[in-house]
Amino acid sequence: AKRVGILTAGGDSPGLNAAIRGFGKTAIAHYGMELFGFRDGVTGLVENRYVELDGKALSGILTIGGTILGTSRDKVHRYAVDGGEPQDMVPVVAENYRALGLDALIMLGGGGTAKNAMRLVDAGLNVVHLPKTIDNDIAETDTTFGFATATEIATDAVDRVHSTAHSHHRIILTEIMGHRAGWLTLAAGIAGGADIILIPEVPYTIESVAATIRRRTAHGSSFSVVAVAEGARDVEDTADYEAAQLLVKSAKTPEARRAAKQHLANVEDAQREHTFKLARELEAATGLETRVTILGYVQRGGTPCAADRLLATRLGAAAADLVSRGEYGVMVAARGDDAVPVPLSDVAGKVKLVPPDHAWIQAARQVGTGLGD
Ligand code: F6P
Repeated sequence: AKRVGILTAGGDSPGLNAAIRGFGKTAIAHYGMELFGFRDGVTGLVENRYVELDGKALSGILTIGGTILGTSRDKVHRYAVDGGEPQDMVPVVAENYRALGLDALIMLGGGGTAKNAMRLVDAGLNVVHLPKTIDNDIAETDTTFGFATATEIATDAVDRVHSTAHSHHRIILTEIMGHRAGWLTLAAGIAGGADIILIPEVPYTIESVAATIRRRTAHGSSFSVVAVAEGARDVEDTADYEAAQLLVKSAKTPEARRAAKQHLANVEDAQREHTFKLARELEAATGLETRVTILGYVQRGGTPCAADRLLATRLGAAAADLVSRGEYGVMVAARGDDAVPVPLSDVAGKVKLVPPDHAWIQAARQVGTGLGD
């Protein structure tokens, strides 16, 4: 029987347990494999903390939020032991993998996890990656599990803030997660009927946002709901951020790289409260009372919606098929109704942003939603 390890890494996301179950039930009951769950993402791999998972452990978890295995954002090649200098733990992980006699390792995670997975593939481990994130920003796959649930939650929030915005004649900025990508904000903004949607891929100007709001006031709507991506920035801040990023990419020496990274961190720090800054600017520009609602972790919590349970189950089951065939070094991508293995090298280090001519952006513009540009 094949012996397989499984872990969940990066931010928790609805559908992780459904995917563990989808993989595990197929692997154990259908293929007769043995399954070991590593605790807390990469941390458990490094520290060799795992439990054997049997059919009983996989029962009743389909609908549960979070991950029964725990998670972390640790990096396998820069892993700080007891707060010390970060070390490369790939050899330690490879040793733990071999000592347990594993044939394969299933890693459920987002972009950061794909990079970790790639390092383990390069070290000779048989890895299969499953795309999880509420951000929907993973390359090569139509979508990721967690995104549909987060879209439901954020849409509900955009719906609900309409009551206060309308009743108090206010502008309400609803800040939605998504890291540097605008998928979640765009989806929830459209579905929730936001008047303005601001995403990182379309830098905004305060003049344009204020003009949309003034137009609404002129037409008798004395309130506005704005869906703001946590990564959305105005034109100037976007330019500062992109310049800082370019410095990191073009740094030639380790010292230059360190300095560039510090500069990037400073730029990010200076932009951290951008939604509140936008609120102050809009209040000054329009004379309308303006409030901010940050949705935060509510978007990642609770039971996955049906679409995510379905996606996680079929991707998980497909991963077990791959292990049974000995097909490794891949991510299982969702392409229409199919689950397709794609080389991890096509995924790791890439971020899927919303193309500026994407159909959702076009639809938003067509129904009169302001994009702030
Ligand atoms: O990747 C998921 C996500 O929720 C992003 O949308 C957000 O930027 C980030 O994680 C928050 O990270 P943390 O869980 O470390 O606060």
